[in-house]
Amino acid sequence: LNIAVFISGSGSNLQAIIDNVHEKNIDGEIKLILSDNKNAKGIERGKKHNIKTHVIEKAMGREHNTDEIVRILEDCKIDLIVLAGFLSILDEKITRLYPKKIINIHPSLIPKYCGRGFYGQKVHKAVIENKEKITGATVHFVDEGVDTGPIIKQKTCDVYEYDTVETVQKRVLEIEHEILVDVIKEFCR
Ligand code: GRF
Repeated sequence: LNIAVFISGSGSNLQAIIDNVHEKNIDGEIKLILSDNKNAKGIERGKKHNIKTHVIEKAMGREHNTDEIVRILEDCKIDLIVLAGFLSILDEKITRLYPKKIINIHPSLIPKYCGRGFYGQKVHKAVIENKEKITGATVHFVDEGVDTGPIIKQKTCDVYEYDTVETVQKRVLEIEHEILVDVIKEFCR
């Protein structure tokens, strides 16, 4: 299976996929790492494994970026697109071309704390402020909306009185890596 991973930042989810492909737990190949941020640390993670990386210059405008992304996806014959810490919203031209072939990992139990504005530490800050007893992560299909596609897999974890944004983020990130790899394995069966 030809996999594309879209990133914007550190790429710890990307690293989990790289490791599992390497260990042959995932019967697929990462053909492309696409980033909307030229400084994303995740780009280095890909380069270390000689994976093709491509940076989208957002300043070039949405229409130009969309056409560029579609062209690259077709050139790489991508079967599955994984949004892993990717902060741009894909144009519906792309979501329509890849129905049920784009998945996203979100660091909350959707439908809680998701949609525009809820990403990264903002999610965990809200979980703590609302004194939630549990939180977790969700892998879902990407449709035209933001964090609105059908849920594929979720896993919960506890939230403790003493927790900070950082301690919750760390606990949730572990779950993100686990369920994202599990879902990709299912796609590659
Ligand atoms: C993290 O906030 C994670 O919860 C979400 O995207 C952010 C960066 O993830 N999925 P990564 O370390 O770049 O994979």
